[in-house]
Amino acid sequence: MTVLTRCAVATVLLLSTGGLLAAAPATYTLPAETATLRPGPGVDTAQKNCVACHSADYLAMQPPGKGKAFWDAEVVKMRQVYKAVIDDSDAKAIADYLAKAY
Ligand code: HEC
Repeated sequence: MTVLTRCAVATVLLLSTGGLLAAAPATYTLPAETATLRPGPGVDTAQKNCVACHSADYLAMQPPGKGKAFWDAEVVKMRQVYKAVIDDSDAKAIADYLAKAY
């Protein structure tokens, strides 16, 4: 194989890979959200801050009646570990709500 032929083969390979990378983006439709937060004072604040990354099921899946210290720690974890952007005052209101509703 001459150098010229090798270059031609390499070019064809590069172009065909480029064609694959430029494929149309896949589209899909998510199913409707079915999980909802339990009612209670502070539910709106939780709705605004706690269901962007995962569903409300994550809250309901925790053992019931864990209390304020547990939910305080959970909100701290969401902010510090998973970088949830939540105001200090909202964080307190959410932990109060969760301790009563869950
Ligand atoms: C920035 C994204 C984000 C936001 C906003 C967020 N979470 Fe999470 N949450 C996560 C991730 C990531 C996990 C871990 C997922 C996994 O392990 O599958 C998680 C897991 C959880 C769990 C399961 C138990 C655990 O500790 O892993 C609970 C309960 C939970 N989140 C509650 C909350 C509450 C309450 C809020 C609102 C204050 C909140 N999350 C907001 C990202 C977020």
